[in-house]
Amino acid sequence: MGKITFFFLLFTLFLSHFVASSLAKRQGDVLGNFYKAKQKKNSVINKSYFTAALENVELDKVILPQDGLKEKDWIKKLPGQPPVKFQQYGGYVTVNESAGRALYYYFTEAENSKSLPLLLWLNGGPGCSSIAYGAMEELGPFRVNSDGKTLHMNDYAWNLAANVLFVESPAGVGFSYTNTSSDLKTSGDNRTANDNLVFLLNWLERFPEYKNRDFYISGESYAGHYVPQLAHAILHHNNLANKTLINLKGIIIGNAVINEWTDFIGNYEYFASHALISDETYLDIHKYCYTDDTYNKPKCYSALEVADNNTYNLDIYNIYFPLCHDGNLTKYPRISSALKFDPCSDHYVHAYMNRRDVQNALHANVTKIQYDWEACSDPLFKNWKDNAPTVIPLLKESLAKGVRVWVFSGDTDGRVPVTSTKRSIQAMNLTVDKSWRSWLYGGEVGGYVETYKGGLTFATVRGAGHEVPSYQPARALSLISHFLSGTLPSGDH
Ligand SMILES: *[C@@H]1O[C@H](CO)[C@@H](O)[C@H](O)[C@H]1NC(C)=O
Ligand SMILES: *[C@@H]1O[C@H](CO)[C@@H](O)[C@H](O)[C@H]1NC(C)=O
Ligand SMILES: *[C@@H]1O[C@H](CO)[C@@H](O)[C@H](O)[C@H]1NC(C)=O
Ligand SMILES: *[C@@H]1O[C@H](CO)[C@@H](O)[C@H](O)[C@H]1NC(C)=O
Ligand SMILES: *[C@@H]1O[C@H](CO)[C@@H](O)[C@H](O)[C@H]1NC(C)=O
Ligand SMILES: *[C@@H]1O[C@H](CO)[C@@H](O)[C@H](O)[C@H]1NC(C)=O
Ligand SMILES: *[C@@H]1O[C@H](CO)[C@@H](O)[C@H](O)[C@H]1NC(C)=O
Ligand SMILES: *[C@@H]1O[C@H](CO)[C@@H](O)[C@H](O)[C@H]1NC(C)=O
Ligand SMILES: *[C@@H]1O[C@H](CO)[C@@H](O)[C@H](O)[C@H]1NC(C)=O
Repeated sequence: MGKITFFFLLFTLFLSHFVASSLAKRQGDVLGNFYKAKQKKNSVINKSYFTAALENVELDKVILPQDGLKEKDWIKKLPGQPPVKFQQYGGYVTVNESAGRALYYYFTEAENSKSLPLLLWLNGGPGCSSIAYGAMEELGPFRVNSDGKTLHMNDYAWNLAANVLFVESPAGVGFSYTNTSSDLKTSGDNRTANDNLVFLLNWLERFPEYKNRDFYISGESYAGHYVPQLAHAILHHNNLANKTLINLKGIIIGNAVINEWTDFIGNYEYFASHALISDETYLDIHKYCYTDDTYNKPKCYSALEVADNNTYNLDIYNIYFPLCHDGNLTKYPRISSALKFDPCSDHYVHAYMNRRDVQNALHANVTKIQYDWEACSDPLFKNWKDNAPTVIPLLKESLAKGVRVWVFSGDTDGRVPVTSTKRSIQAMNLTVDKSWRSWLYGGEVGGYVETYKGGLTFATVRGAGHEVPSYQPARALSLISHFLSGTLPSGDH
């Protein structure tokens, strides 16, 4: 029995325990549950390698007229928002007319919008919202206050470095919807990449001034799949059309799901090296779960259960961070700063996004969706149809086509930890170009960076959890600015 087969069998036992967790549901919870669900023997998830699927679709049939829609999407002001000097837009883009699928986007221009690139941000799950996390808790210009109705500024927003586009993807996430309810049960990597591509082509019709702009795709967690898959679809269609439909220059993924097997072993390596599990448990997992000769299912499961129990009371997305002990809204907003992330932010964002005045201002939920706005969609991840075991071939494809590829990692995340990412990069068999060194920000080590021949850059962000810009906003802004300008962060002697 090969190692990979073990992996498929590993997690079935722990599903119920995991679901019973008392912590608020987050992007990483969904990912953890998803990992476990897809290992079930009767799983119907297609684990084949990813291929672009729009080959027979004529682009002129999926690109619809967008006249006048940009002006309609202009957001004057969000409820409770401090004054700003940049423009914001929000609205729907139809990605499949016959099924009635539309993706919701929120776009924050840079103050000097004309000179800066266009950057798309995607969150993971699968089934989690780029507005819930990316826009409202990580890199967007605003953070929601503890009253659930007013906002404060994020002084390290990424629209200081780019025009930033957030899209809730696929349909069924957040405000993005489908009029064909069965779509919620047939979503997957494939559909997501195709719909994201059709979204972008239409969005660029709506905002034609960005058509030839340098374009970058960023994302975290399960977007480790979405980002290179969308890049693949773009490269594929640029090639089919024999012209640059989308001017893709680079992709960057953080704490990203990359390669199933290395993601998995790196996880327990991290737990052990950060004193979350004992050496004994770690060695048991190695002996009984990884090794052909000594594989023992009951002992493997029992060691994994010990590891599960040992990490149960932690915020696994940032192992040194406090939990949210009281998510109740406050009558008046607590004094807040983007530099001090509030562990109860999910509750404030949930309250804010479900307000009617907020939805009206955002031009969201215009079709009166039957369910509430949620940060993550259960039906989507529970019915996810296809999930490639690795995106390494796609990262390699982007590199080969001259697309800048960066991988980053917040080094206090225990969900897709830095040890997993290091192993996934090792699995790409690249040769080191500039070896491991620290990079500085504000006179402190911001993290470490290494580059590889062929163009890949790997950077860590010191003291950041799974959602890197939430925990280290200044370091994250420095990192994305370097990525966009194609310069390496530096500092080592
Ligand atoms: C899984 O995906 C592969 C590759 O796209 C495809 O050839 C195959 O038919 C799919 N299998 C099922 C059961 O849908
Ligand atoms: C992706 O979609 C295409 C076209 O619908 C299909 O041929 C292919 O099998 C799908 N791949 C997977 C992995 O589901
Ligand atoms: C629209 O989505 C449906 C699934 O809901 C799919 O069968 C159909 O092929 C899609 N149409 C296009 C043009 O992609
Ligand atoms: C979905 O249905 C509603 C109600 O009929 C309609 O207003 C809306 O335009 C449809 N959405 C799409 C993307 O076709
Ligand atoms: C692609 O475009 C180039 C230049 O625009 C042209 O020389 C070439 O013939 C085109 N190839 C095809 C297959 O259309
Ligand atoms: C893990 O915790 C559960 C719930 O407290 C307990 O029932 C179980 O025995 C523990 N498992 C191990 C291996 O310690
Ligand atoms: C939060 O609000 C609920 C309902 O009003 C209340 O029962 C609970 O005690 C509050 N929690 C804390 C920690 O104050
Ligand atoms: C959409 O609006 C309806 C009320 O018209 C509300 O019940 C529902 O929770 C909202 N859904 C979303 C996803 O915003
Ligand atoms: C890396 O090298 C190993 C050992 O030669 C090989 O099995 C593996 O397929 C290679 N991986 C990639 C992505 O090239």
